[in-house]
Amino acid sequence: MTDDLLSPETPASLHVNIRDMEIDDLATVYHLGESLFTSDLYPYIYRTWDQWEVIGLYNTDPEYCLVAEIDEQLAGFILGTTITKASWVYGYIIWLGISPHCQRRGVGDKLVDRLVERMIEDGARFMMVDTDPENIPAVNFFTRKGFGNIRKHVFLSMNLSRHDYYGRLIAYERDKAERAVWKRSRRRPTKPAPTE
Ligand SMILES: CC(C)(COP(=O)(O)OP(=O)(O)OC[C@H]1O[C@@H](n2cnc3c(N)ncnc32)[C@H](O)[C@@H]1OP(=O)(O)O)[C@@H](O)C(=O)NCCC(=O)NCCS
Repeated sequence: MTDDLLSPETPASLHVNIRDMEIDDLATVYHLGESLFTSDLYPYIYRTWDQWEVIGLYNTDPEYCLVAEIDEQLAGFILGTTITKASWVYGYIIWLGISPHCQRRGVGDKLVDRLVERMIEDGARFMMVDTDPENIPAVNFFTRKGFGNIRKHVFLSMNLSRHDYYGRLIAYERDKAERAVWKRSRRRPTKPAPTE
């Protein structure tokens, strides 16, 4: 897969081509995202990046799935959607990823511009994006692009097994499953039907 991505030797001054994502790009985009949205850098969003994310958005919002190419090799991607609420159309950037060797060369800038142009054509008058507050490159990038009104979002989690009530529920379900297996293993084979 990485054969389709740019190598570290890629010169900085090459032309960036933005085009619609195509079916043959799905695996490359998925693998690039997998290398970018990692648990150490992005402790929450890495959980939701999987192949269905790429396939699903390509299925529902193909016009908002774009890739950037340099020298015919994939340098980055953007996946978005629009949300219509009370007659307002909001553009939403769901995923943006640039190959590490191509970062800080204006690739993300061009992808966002093209996506926003498309969304404006489709009626969008607001844009939204979210990222982890620790993701300084992304926060700087979006701020530089004109995004503001930052609101911090709080993520909460719970280990259900350690919860007083839910923990007992989990133990009950586990016992139930074990009892069912045990019952099946003890069930006598049914008598064969008498032959004529
Ligand atoms: C964030 C990201 C999309 C930026 O793309 P890019 O193509 O490198 O950005 P551009 O070259 O168009 O813009 C550069 C600007 O972005 C910001 N920026 C990008 N990388 C940065 C970094 N490592 N540190 C600080 N600011 C950074 C700066 O404002 C920079 O401007 P400057 O070079 O004048 O300081 C890219 O770093 C990336 O793919 N990151 C990993 C995935 C991710 O976090 N995606 C966003 C959440 S879905």
